[in-house]
Amino acid sequence: MVSELRTDRLVLRGWRASDLAPWAAMNADPVVRAYFPEVLTRAQSEASVARFQADLDRRGWGWWAVELAATGEFVGFAGLDPVEDGMPFTGVEAGWRLARPAWGHGYATEAARAVVSYGFERLGLAEVLAVTAAGNLRSRAVMDRLGMSHDPADDFDDPEVPEGPLRRSVVYRIRAGDRRATDG
Ligand SMILES: CC(C)(COP(=O)(O)OP(=O)(O)OC[C@H]1O[C@@H](n2cnc3c(N)ncnc32)[C@H](O)[C@@H]1OP(=O)(O)O)[C@@H](O)C(=O)NCCC(=O)NCCS
Repeated sequence: MVSELRTDRLVLRGWRASDLAPWAAMNADPVVRAYFPEVLTRAQSEASVARFQADLDRRGWGWWAVELAATGEFVGFAGLDPVEDGMPFTGVEAGWRLARPAWGHGYATEAARAVVSYGFERLGLAEVLAVTAAGNLRSRAVMDRLGMSHDPADDFDDPEVPEGPLRRSVVYRIRAGDRRATDG
């Protein structure tokens, strides 16, 4: 069964057909995709939702759709997933992506706290990672607000990213004993 996570202002839930259009629109926004190699086509966005929902159906957790609790408006995604093969480290990473109008409200940090807590409390993880392009300061700020720490010795060139300024990437980590992630 797909877990549903609730916070003060957000619901993290399984994907609905009505999420596809706003999800595709945000993935076609070059500002939202500024720290990724390219924007996504509608077909790529649809394929990603199919993968996310299959993972949620199979194990109950993963990349959840995020909606505003007050209005039901879809605003993006957040969740947890095992680090992909081929990366120079292993573990479970948290991630987040919001449509531009949803930036600047604290929603990413609120969603991220919920998923990190889920990782520790429901999945029993000892550590949660977060990975982003070194220049993605907004995402790094979310990691800082969660109380994650960054060791420059972990910085790496992402093999999934073509050569260029987006390739250099950073890893942030938080361990289960560090309660700041869930303190709010
Ligand atoms: C990364 C991303 C999700 C961060 O979004 P964000 O809006 O900067 O982060 P938060 O949702 O935590 O919001 C924090 C901001 O909301 C403000 N805020 C306003 N009301 C708030 C409230 N009630 N509670 C908390 N913060 C609030 C904070 O002061 C902060 O503002 P600041 O950025 O001016 O310091 C967003 O930039 C994004 O989707 N980027 C594209 C995708 C991406 O790169 N994802 C990460 C890839 S690894």
